[in-house]
Amino acid sequence: MSETFDKAYWDEHYDAHAPAGAGGPNPYLLAASRDLTPGTALDAGCGEGAEAIWLAAHGWQVTAVDIADTALHRAREHAAAAGVTTGIDWIQADLTTWTPAEERFDLVCSHYVHPAAAPGDLFRRLAAAVAPGGTLLLVGHHPSDHHTATTPEAHVEIGELAAVLDPGRWDIAVAGDGSRVMSHGGREIPLHDTVLQARRRGQAAGGRLGR
Ligand SMILES: C[S@@+](CC[C@H](N)C(=O)[O-])C[C@H]1O[C@@H](n2cnc3c(N)ncnc32)[C@H](O)[C@@H]1O
Repeated sequence: MSETFDKAYWDEHYDAHAPAGAGGPNPYLLAASRDLTPGTALDAGCGEGAEAIWLAAHGWQVTAVDIADTALHRAREHAAAAGVTTGIDWIQADLTTWTPAEERFDLVCSHYVHPAAAPGDLFRRLAAAVAPGGTLLLVGHHPSDHHTATTPEAHVEIGELAAVLDPGRWDIAVAGDGSRVMSHGGREIPLHDTVLQARRRGQAAGGRLGR
């Protein structure tokens, strides 16, 4: 079956599914941010907000973008329930056209966004939004992922992600695949992911370095 991952798809997806419940932030984000000093972060395709809320709770100033109104509505509710009342700017926008300012964010992350069109263009814009010294984390569904086996349009290979980075300007920390178990709506779902984590070369503004 072929899917078009446009706004209508994601609106229907969230309307048809109960809130995700407390699954906690993505473990790749926990690992990537462990040694970083909190600054500005962009979460592209934030869904119900688990990562944005965790980042804000840990001192980051977060811009969280998603195309689906219901996802953002739930994300705001989850943030309020978690007592995270500041530090997140929730934006409803289509990432295939919404363009973040270049070199704006100390951390840009995106987990499983698989847009309807031109993922390479999106990933390139996300990479461009990383400030000198900042970190890019892109996580997608690996082609062998069982959970998304019927929607190969959602898959991404590491070569597609790495291709958006100029090797002369980035230090790649992680480029490959990983496995994890996601808790979703009371279920444990094994996932096989494609993961790219890279640091943009250059001095962070204000001389800030990772811890
Ligand atoms: C599989 S969900 C992942 C949500 C969250 N990042 C997570 O890891 O739980 C993909 C998310 O990307 C959003 N999304 C997909 N295409 C988008 C687009 N073109 N612009 C903005 N958000 C988009 C969807 O609405 C959805 O919330």
